[in-house]
Amino acid sequence: MNADPFSLEGKRVLVTGASSGIGRQVAISCAEMGATMVVTGRNAERLGQTLSLLEGVGHVSVVADLRKVDDIGRIVDSAGELNGLVHCAGVTAVVPFRVIGEKHLDEILETNFRAPVILTQRLLAGRHLMNGGSIVFIASSAAHIGTPFTSMYSASKSALITAARALALEVAAKQRIRVNCLSPGYTRTPMLDGLNEGASIEGNFALAPLGIGEPEDLANAVIFFLSDASRWITRATLHIDGGLTARVSY
Ligand SMILES: NC(=O)c1ccc[n+]([C@@H]2O[C@H](COP(=O)([O-])OP(=O)(O)OC[C@H]3O[C@@H](n4cnc5c(N)ncnc54)[C@H](OP(=O)(O)O)[C@@H]3O)[C@@H](O)[C@H]2O)c1
Repeated sequence: MNADPFSLEGKRVLVTGASSGIGRQVAISCAEMGATMVVTGRNAERLGQTLSLLEGVGHVSVVADLRKVDDIGRIVDSAGELNGLVHCAGVTAVVPFRVIGEKHLDEILETNFRAPVILTQRLLAGRHLMNGGSIVFIASSAAHIGTPFTSMYSASKSALITAARALALEVAAKQRIRVNCLSPGYTRTPMLDGLNEGASIEGNFALAPLGIGEPEDLANAVIFFLSDASRWITRATLHIDGGLTARVSY
C-alpha cells in the first residue's frame, strides 16, 4: 500500500459529468492526488476546460451523450485499464407528480439510472475495471427523502443505490471491486442554480446545520472511496449533506 493511504498515484479513473459541477471538481481533485483521468461529458467546450485544469499528463477526454448507447461504446473504447469509476452525470427538473410526462420520465431515468448501469456493465464485461478497483455512484439526499416536485429524480437515485448494493455483492469476493454511493445534500453547482430558479428553494439550504456544500466536499469523499484508505468499505452509502437528513427518518 502507498505510504499515503489517500494517494491516487498510479490509478486510472473514469469520471462522467466531468464538464460541470461536482464531476469537474472530482476530476481536478483526483488528478491532484496523482490519478490519470478519463473525463467525459456532453459539452465539448466545458469538457475541454476541465481537461486543461488537470494536473499531470496522460489524461483523456471523450465527448459523449450517455443517453446514446453508441456514445457509451466510445467511452468504453477509450477507458483502458481502470482502477476507479465515478458516476457524476445526472439531471433534475422541478415537475409536480400530476404533470409528469413520458419525456421527463425518459430523460431522468435514462440519464440518472440507465446510463450508469449500462456503462458499468460494459466496463465490467470488457474487463476494463481492474481487480481491487472502486466504483462510486453519486446519488442524492433526495433518494432517501423523496423530495416533492422531483419525485422521478428521487426515484432514479433510489434505484441507483439499490442496484449498486446488489452489484457490490456480485463483484466483491472474486474481483475485490468495491461499490459505494454518495448521497449529497444541496451542493453549489450549476444544477442547483437551475433548480433554485425553477422552485426558489434557497430557504431549504439553511435546513442543513452546516449549510450548503461545495463540490470540493464531494470530491474529497470520492478520493477516500477511490483510495486504499477505504479498501475494507463496500456497499456503503455516505450521506454527505451538512446534516440535512440527520433529522429525517427513512
Ligand atoms: N448539486 C447538488 O445539490 C446535488 C445534490 C445531490 C446530488 N447531486 C448529483 O450530483 C451529480 C452532479 O451534479 P452537479 O450538481 O455537478 O450538476 P451539473 O453541474 O449540472 O453537472 C451535471 C453533469 O452531468 C452531465 N450530463 C447530464 N446529462 C448527460 C448526458 N445525457 N450525457 C452525458 N453527460 C450528461 C453534464 O454534462 P454537460 O454539462 O456536458 O451536458 C454535466 O457534466 C448529479 O448526479 C446530481 O444528481 C447534485
